[in-house]
Amino acid sequence: MEKEHCHRIEGLYYPVFIGKNPWNDLKAFIAEQFPTSKLFILTDENVNKECLPGLLHHVEFLKDAPVISVPSGEGSKSVETALRCWDWLTDQEATRSDLLINLGGGVVTDLGGYVAATYKRGMPFIHIPTTLIGQADAAIGGKTGINFSGYKNHLGYFANPSTVFIDPGFLETLPKRELISGYAELIKSALISGGDFWTRIREEDLDNPAMLQGFIADSVTYKLSITDHDLYDRDLRKCLNFGHTIGHAMESLSFEEGRKPLLHGEAVAAGMICEAYISAKIKGLDRETIKSIHHLINKYFPQIDMDLCADDLHRFLVQDKKNTEGTIRMTLLRAPGQPRADQPVGPGLISESLVHYKDIFTK
Ligand SMILES: NC(=O)c1ccc[n+]([C@@H]2O[C@H](COP(=O)([O-])OP(=O)(O)OC[C@H]3O[C@@H](n4cnc5c(N)ncnc54)[C@H](O)[C@@H]3O)[C@@H](O)[C@H]2O)c1
Repeated sequence: MEKEHCHRIEGLYYPVFIGKNPWNDLKAFIAEQFPTSKLFILTDENVNKECLPGLLHHVEFLKDAPVISVPSGEGSKSVETALRCWDWLTDQEATRSDLLINLGGGVVTDLGGYVAATYKRGMPFIHIPTTLIGQADAAIGGKTGINFSGYKNHLGYFANPSTVFIDPGFLETLPKRELISGYAELIKSALISGGDFWTRIREEDLDNPAMLQGFIADSVTYKLSITDHDLYDRDLRKCLNFGHTIGHAMESLSFEEGRKPLLHGEAVAAGMICEAYISAKIKGLDRETIKSIHHLINKYFPQIDMDLCADDLHRFLVQDKKNTEGTIRMTLLRAPGQPRADQPVGPGLISESLVHYKDIFTK
């Protein structure tokens, strides 16, 4: 049993290992690729408690690795925390041939990837994602970054990890709200990839752990098929942003003082409802698909508890990185499996989509 290997998904630039107990593969990978490197671990406080002991139990040689643990939560995707990490690597005399291991959710992998990619012009890093968002999405594709001045991922860099190890067993300690937040990224992946993934996600229960590993693997495979060919978000990759233009704006708005912060997936779920509405208006997305999207999202996500004022959201929408020539652009859907990036959308339709969002919860 100990000797078993887990499923290996072959990306063009790095492999992703997925399965319960990927530790033999992790040991072999590090021994082969980083035989003389010093190993460093970046994690957050919750993961330090819930996941690090298990990792050290399975991979004994990591017991000697220095660990930095940042506060849990989105607040750690900040310049201050990045500074702390760079200081720490410098104090530890880390070099460009050493290895940073990012153990945690999307916050740790985004932050750790950014810290490593900029440290001495780039030290190698690997991700061991411990949340569903991390495993299905954030750890894959080489986008790294931190928030700045109230804007999401305002500072960042594209840099691929050397590999990613996904153990769905980590999800057992993840709070339910965080797990559900991750369903949004799975629903998005299934919707834009279409085909069998979209069929199965509508038939199976996302909260069935036996199904989850398969959905994570589908999501990883699909994301790699895109990001392998467009790391820098020039064309193909923008398709992955379905639900994220309005979703990111809602997420950023929720972080303002006096509001209740939304989780990333909660905002993306709401964003998908709005952007599906806009897709129907501009791209003719059919009623059946819209109904399936509503059904799937309503099954797991309550209505978000925030005043969705179009003018407030607009402040964030105009900062979206996909905008060009002063126009808000988003990825819309013609049909499942047929995303269309860079679609210009006027403010009127965005306001309508917010009204539609509220309507579907009151009907
Ligand atoms: N780079 C990308 O392509 C990409 C894609 C999607 C999302 N993201 C980013 O990811 C971030 C959200 O990631 P997230 O949802 O993983 O949030 P997160 O990293 O903040 O983790 C959520 C919470 O769960 C805790 N946690 C993590 N693993 C745990 C475990 N196994 N058991 C118990 N607690 C655990 C964390 O400490 C934290 O409190 C956002 O900043 C988003 O912008 C990036």
